[in-house]
Amino acid sequence: MNPIRLIKGKIRARRARMERSALRTSTASVSRDIPLKEWADSLADPTGFYLRAVEYFDRSLPEEFRVHRNYFTQNGRGFGEDAFHTMWFLLFREFRPKSFLEIGVFRGQSLSLAGMCARHFQLDCLVQGVSPFTFAGDSVSKYSRHVDYLADTLGNFSHFQLAPPSLLKAYSTDPEARNLIASRDWDLIYIDGNHDYAVARKDWELCSKHVRPQGLIVLDDSGLDTAFHPPSFTTAGHPGPSQLAKEINRNEFAEILQVGHNRVFQKVGT
Ligand SMILES: C[S@@+](CC[C@H](N)C(=O)[O-])C[C@H]1O[C@@H](n2cnc3c(N)ncnc32)[C@H](O)[C@@H]1O
Repeated sequence: MNPIRLIKGKIRARRARMERSALRTSTASVSRDIPLKEWADSLADPTGFYLRAVEYFDRSLPEEFRVHRNYFTQNGRGFGEDAFHTMWFLLFREFRPKSFLEIGVFRGQSLSLAGMCARHFQLDCLVQGVSPFTFAGDSVSKYSRHVDYLADTLGNFSHFQLAPPSLLKAYSTDPEARNLIASRDWDLIYIDGNHDYAVARKDWELCSKHVRPQGLIVLDDSGLDTAFHPPSFTTAGHPGPSQLAKEINRNEFAEILQVGHNRVFQKVGT
C-alpha cells in the first residue's frame, strides 16, 4: 500500500479511537433509557441520538452484550458499531420479533446478536441468515480470502452458547435465496449484503413484499443525505443503500428510527 495513505489511515484510526474513548469516560451526562416514544428524535437529530445510543451501550446495555461486541471487535471478526448493539437490543425489546432474516452475514456478529437478544428477552425467534459465506464483496467492500465464513459463523454462535442459526449459503439474488425469502412473512429483516445499488434495490423489492404489516426492515449503510454528521469512528454509509433509502415509498414504509448509518423502516398496514 502507498505509505502516505497508510500513515493517513493510522492517524485517522488513532483519532477515531481517542474520540470514542473520550465518550466512554465522559461524565457529562447520565445515561437514561431510550423508550420507543423518543425514537422519532433520531430522525430530527440523528447525530445527537447516535451519541445517546453510544452512551447507552457504555452505561446501560447488559454486560453480556458488551462482551459480545468486544469479542467481534477482535481479530477482524466483525464490522458494526457499539451503537448498533444498542439498536438491536431496543428493536428486540420493543418489537419482540418471532422471525429475523439477515441478508449478508459475514462472520455472524449481527446474526448471533439477534440470537442473544431473543434469548435475553425469552423470544422463540427463527434466526435466518442468507450469505455466500465466501469473500464475495462489492464495489465498496473487500473481505479476506482466508476465512471459512460458514464454520466461523457457527463457531461464533457456539462461543456464546447459542443454538445454531438457520443458514442458506447463497447470494440473495439466487433463486433458492429468493424462494426462501418469499416463503413467509418476516417480522424483522436486516439488509446488509451487497451494497451496490442494483443488488440492494433487488433485496429491498423482495423483502418489502415479504415483511409482515407493522414488521421492520433495517437498511444498513444508508445514512448519506441525512442530517447525520458521523463522529470520526463511524461513517454515514454508502451511495447504493443511501440512494435506495431516498426512493422508499413513505406511504408504504414509515421511517421510525435512525442509528448512524442504519435506518429502520416499518411497513404500514394491519
Ligand atoms: C458488511 S458484511 C455483513 C456484516 C453482517 N451483516 C454483520 O452485521 O455482522 C456483508 C456480507 O454480505 C455478503 N454478501 C455479498 N454479496 C451478497 C449477496 N448478493 N447476498 C448476500 N450476501 C452477500 C458478503 O460476503 C459479506 O459477508
